[in-house]
Amino acid sequence: MLRINNITTENLGEGCITDNPRPRFSFKLNSDKAETTLKSASVSVNEWTTETTQQISVRYAGEDLEPFTAYTVKVEAFDNHGEKAHAETTFQTGKLGQEWKAKWISDPTYTFKEKKNSPRPLTFRKKITVEKEVRKAWIASTAVGIYDLYWNDKKIGADYFMPGFTDYKHQLQYQVYDVTDQLADSGCLEAVVAGGWAVGAFTYKRKNRIYADKQAFLAEVHIVYEDGSTDVIGTDETWDVTTDGRYRMAEFYNGEVYDASLDRSTMNWKKASLEDSGLRPRLLAHYGAPVRANERLSPISCTLTPSGSLLYDFGQNFAGVVDAVIKGTKGQVITFRHAEILQEGELYTSLLRSAKAEAVYTCSEGEQTYSPRMTYMGFRYVEVIGIEVSDIQLTALVLHSDMEKNGDFQCSDPRLNQLQSNIVWGAKSNFMDIPTDCPQRDERMGWTGDIAVFSNTACYNFNMSCFLDKWLMDVKSEQRRGGAIPETIPHIPMFGKLESMFPVAIAYWGDSCILVPWAEYMARGDIEVLRNMYPVMKKYLKACKFWAEFLSVGKQRRIWKVSFHYGDWCAPEGEYKDWIKRGKWTATACLMNSSKIVSQVAEILNLEDERDYYQKLSEETATAYLDVFTDRMGKLHEEFQTAYVLPIYYDIFQGNEKKAAVDNLVKLVRENNYSIGTGFPGTPYILFTLADNGYAEDAYKMLLNEACPSWLYEVKAGATTIWERWDGIEEDGRAKEGDMISFNHYASGAVGDFLYRRVVGIEPLEAGYKRFQVKPLIGGELFWASGEVDTPYGLIFVNWELEDQKFRIDLIVPVGTTCELALPDHSLKTIGSGRYSFQVEISDND
Ligand code: BGC
Repeated sequence: MLRINNITTENLGEGCITDNPRPRFSFKLNSDKAETTLKSASVSVNEWTTETTQQISVRYAGEDLEPFTAYTVKVEAFDNHGEKAHAETTFQTGKLGQEWKAKWISDPTYTFKEKKNSPRPLTFRKKITVEKEVRKAWIASTAVGIYDLYWNDKKIGADYFMPGFTDYKHQLQYQVYDVTDQLADSGCLEAVVAGGWAVGAFTYKRKNRIYADKQAFLAEVHIVYEDGSTDVIGTDETWDVTTDGRYRMAEFYNGEVYDASLDRSTMNWKKASLEDSGLRPRLLAHYGAPVRANERLSPISCTLTPSGSLLYDFGQNFAGVVDAVIKGTKGQVITFRHAEILQEGELYTSLLRSAKAEAVYTCSEGEQTYSPRMTYMGFRYVEVIGIEVSDIQLTALVLHSDMEKNGDFQCSDPRLNQLQSNIVWGAKSNFMDIPTDCPQRDERMGWTGDIAVFSNTACYNFNMSCFLDKWLMDVKSEQRRGGAIPETIPHIPMFGKLESMFPVAIAYWGDSCILVPWAEYMARGDIEVLRNMYPVMKKYLKACKFWAEFLSVGKQRRIWKVSFHYGDWCAPEGEYKDWIKRGKWTATACLMNSSKIVSQVAEILNLEDERDYYQKLSEETATAYLDVFTDRMGKLHEEFQTAYVLPIYYDIFQGNEKKAAVDNLVKLVRENNYSIGTGFPGTPYILFTLADNGYAEDAYKMLLNEACPSWLYEVKAGATTIWERWDGIEEDGRAKEGDMISFNHYASGAVGDFLYRRVVGIEPLEAGYKRFQVKPLIGGELFWASGEVDTPYGLIFVNWELEDQKFRIDLIVPVGTTCELALPDHSLKTIGSGRYSFQVEISDND
């Protein structure tokens, strides 16, 4: 039987809200018959119907949609066996650009000028009287700052840190919450607005008031009564505001100070005033993946530190908040301190730099609960001061952008399973509304280089569509006139006006505008992401080319060295200046690869001239790399792992030169006893360059190496996430000294791509896995590996086992896709959808 499952609107599920006037619909098919493909489908909304053979991104092209209206999407599909299926979903529109009746409001008397700190959270309130029976009610709201809504003191919605972090100069999301049940009776609507990213201290320089001088709030309560009449209650000067709320302080770095002993009735409320923050963003219904707490962790131990405080170990490094059930007395102060690691049994917090990462809670009387809402920490350990162990029950909530888990990897080596777990936790901890670098210290910024190198792995583990589409919208709006992509998005200029006026293109960090959409396109198959980002890619490459040619002649015109690159960032050898010195190699290889990808994008978009132009640019850059950096016989004048890995992986080296270059890399790797020598750019690819060029066992040796620096060194040292520095904890168990030591940085977890693409062997050959390869890489004494990827067409599942030269593979191929299966005895099969098992004998020569 054919079945349609999981119809999405704008990549969102049933009941979602969108402000896209032309939403995209996608759907998956399921069948118990093998070799099933979609023959045709019709997708309809009201009077509009379209016939299609596509399952991904069918765009609505009917009458204009009405604001705040629910629509039903109907899909009817026919397969190649003549079977038919039908399914429906719903979506709702948001304001669709309709004017807001509400006005931005703030506290007229509150001025906040302090440097490096965060403003007092503001609390707004409005008493709402309901006199007629309510059929439906909803709130559309947003803030400059981050906000939470309460109805009669009870939180509305499950989201954290709304309205999310966007380039507030250009776009600001608003949220829509259904409050039909709440508004059955009169009551009080409250909003707490903390400084968040817009006004609070943010960036390692602890800048504040980045987007506005103080918080502001905007909300409309829409009510439809049973008698058909309607009401809209918008924020205006009739709302009250106070700085005297229970949230005394809240910011991402220092944490939160909350006073539950305060009596709400005696708070000093005053009338709000209209506020003009100077920002003029487009207000768009929430389109990103909201931060939520979908997981709760219980401590694995509760002990005392040598200095006598209560210490909870959650057994896992992660980003989130504590959640405490407390028996307290009014005025009792409890402090929660957080850290990723211990040294001599005590919290080790100096790595957090200026971030205090504390939650300070003042109790009311009796049994109560507390969990911070306006901050988060990156931690495994929590020290609790000011309460007896018998009076507190402590668990923790894991916070991250709510993305569906999309993949899984397991194998017979438990160390690799721990590595996979570390990669996933590293990703979860750093997908906090934007892709951040780390969740603990005074940084947590949208560093573009980190996601540029990690995006393939991210797309295997999660459905990244909403999260990345949102972030890429900011990448687009933050692109500088000259084409440069700032190194953090949303961008906060760190070095004054000059940086804004004269930003430069930086290899890999800037190439996020190409590498991230390309990874997303290959994983999800939606051409829209390419269409959307193609102009950005072009403009960016123009900037790269300009900088490569700047004051250069001859071959040097394709060697990209100015003005600044992060180079082989975080390579195990050396420090910043050494990594940066490697910039000309990494940048030139990167320019070659990005031009090649953009040429492919141009081809997909049917832009032949442009395809040829970028192809030529990429070829010229490849030639320059070889002419300038090598002896043209496959040997680099200056050798280091990354300088071989990039040109080998990107096919800059060809033929005999490539063969020699691979041998030279292998020599370096062996001389280094299989320890990793790469920084951000080379780490994702080094194992591919070995495994794909005849050195599979060397690749496995490097993957399974436990000596420092290596992935499994971290695992052996007890890591539960991915570290920023390969030697974050030295062999003697002490934390490395320095100001850039994070134990939760996902970038070098980019090796996850290799686990899926080679160890299990699942790799898309056509975007969205329409056609994909399964080609397991036997080695490393692994005797089984299994993996799954939930593609836009459905679930791919692979499990292989090896016993006494007998290789057995079980796999599931989703409806509508084709699998090219390459078995270790070199046999090849092309198979359509269905469940399969194959067994082959392999000889020692295979
Ligand atoms: C961040 C990195 C980032 C880098 C770029 C660091 O402080 O943590 O992950 O990409 O800066 O300079």
